Amino acid sequence: MARLVVVSNRVPIPDKSGTAPAGGLAVALQSALEARGGLWLGWSGRSCADDAVGPLQMQKEGNIEYALTDLTERDVEEYYQGFANRVLWPICHYRLDLAEYGRREMAGYFRVNRFFASRLLPLIEPDDLIWIHDYHLIPLAAELRRQGVTNRIGFFLHIPWPAPDVFHAMPVHEALLTSLTAYDVLGFQTEHDRENFADCLSRRDLAARLDASRFATDGRVFTARPYPIGIETEEFAALAKRAAQTALHKRMLQSLDGKQLIIGVDRLDYSKGITQRIDAFESFLTRHSDSQRKVTLLQITPKSRSEVPEYEAMQRAVAEQAGRVNGALGTVDWVPIRYINRSLRRPALAGLYRMAKLALVTPLRDGMNLVAKEFVAAQREEDPGVLLLSRFAGAAQELKEAVLVNPYDVEGTGEAIARSLAMPLEERRERWSAMMTTLRANDVFTWCDTFLKDLAAKPVQKARPASVSTPVRTSEARTQPLRKAMSTPVARWS
Ligand code: F6P
Repeated sequence: MARLVVVSNRVPIPDKSGTAPAGGLAVALQSALEARGGLWLGWSGRSCADDAVGPLQMQKEGNIEYALTDLTERDVEEYYQGFANRVLWPICHYRLDLAEYGRREMAGYFRVNRFFASRLLPLIEPDDLIWIHDYHLIPLAAELRRQGVTNRIGFFLHIPWPAPDVFHAMPVHEALLTSLTAYDVLGFQTEHDRENFADCLSRRDLAARLDASRFATDGRVFTARPYPIGIETEEFAALAKRAAQTALHKRMLQSLDGKQLIIGVDRLDYSKGITQRIDAFESFLTRHSDSQRKVTLLQITPKSRSEVPEYEAMQRAVAEQAGRVNGALGTVDWVPIRYINRSLRRPALAGLYRMAKLALVTPLRDGMNLVAKEFVAAQREEDPGVLLLSRFAGAAQELKEAVLVNPYDVEGTGEAIARSLAMPLEERRERWSAMMTTLRANDVFTWCDTFLKDLAAKPVQKARPASVSTPVRTSEARTQPLRKAMSTPVARWS
């Protein structure tokens, strides 16, 4: 079996405290890679002065060899906080109003991708399958090809791909689309995302569509398909079962004092619809006042990307909103919303999911949302809780038996909370068992195997005349002007 080389911006370096990594990417990939073994290259999470980037830090943990690189402060500002999280993230989540496009950040994004290519190059062996993840690293395959890599290279996008009118509003969209055609296999979370991508290609006439999944460009054929990401279904179910015996679980049950638990777990991000969710919960409590003092919403929201201004503003807004609802509706012995700003360990989370009567997973837009899947897997077969799920989460394409809501409709979501809490046992069991069948059929291992099978079936690319066969030195990769880094005729700005 060929060695697997994974590249992602964020790498879940094993944390001695056992704290769960925030974000679905790290959790899912770690499960998949642990089972198969391989090399995982990414950012160490540390930044340093311009001339202080040292060699790769290699660390072997079980089946996985980690190769971590520091980035400079300027890199982090321009590539991660700038282009990735203030341009690509809002645009892919349909928030053109929040996109802050700047040429400096865009140049930093391409420069860092070139730098990642130069770090990866010396580690690549001829038969390796290279699998690159998420929006931070879109141009990485094109950079590797330019540096002579002919290996099979796949890409998986964990976040949504927006409609052409939205994506094309980004000044550099054509260069990004073109660079994606350098991959052999492109994976999207849903059919809808793949179709949006195909529409973007066809509007710019960048590739010819051969059939549903195959596209031809530049004398070669690449695949673009939906591969909905899954979870470790059986393992998570077992974890939740075990967690019910822990001291934390017992303390939590005690503190609920017979009240029904409603749970929400999200990174603090504007795409997650947390303010609309709190509004919906308030609407539910106001319209169904008999439920007051009988339910508690536990909202677990680890802080995220706090250096980005929109996230900082949101931290304040959500805390104020939760405080306002608690102040208006709470009593001396009842707090409607328990709002927590840190991540919990996975066993603790699994136990809380199992205890909850209802999960509110109501993003305004989400690639997949693995919280929805983990909540379902954690339930008790004999008395399962209800999943209330946004239609705009990728998970809604698979978990059709959830209670599907439009999170922009605050009152409608409030009424759906009331219906879910009153749902008869038989209906809950029917919905849960249908969702569990789906989660068992498509777990994270199936996701990984299906993608890698498609990638392995691709022919090795021919070396290109324009390619560079020797690794560029780090210093070159850092200082090469963008003009040169994007010198192929197709990689133009518009
Ligand atoms: O799953 C989407 C994603 O953006 C991942 O790429 C990322 O690792 C995770 O969410 C958490 O975000 P960040 O790495 O910016 O903290």
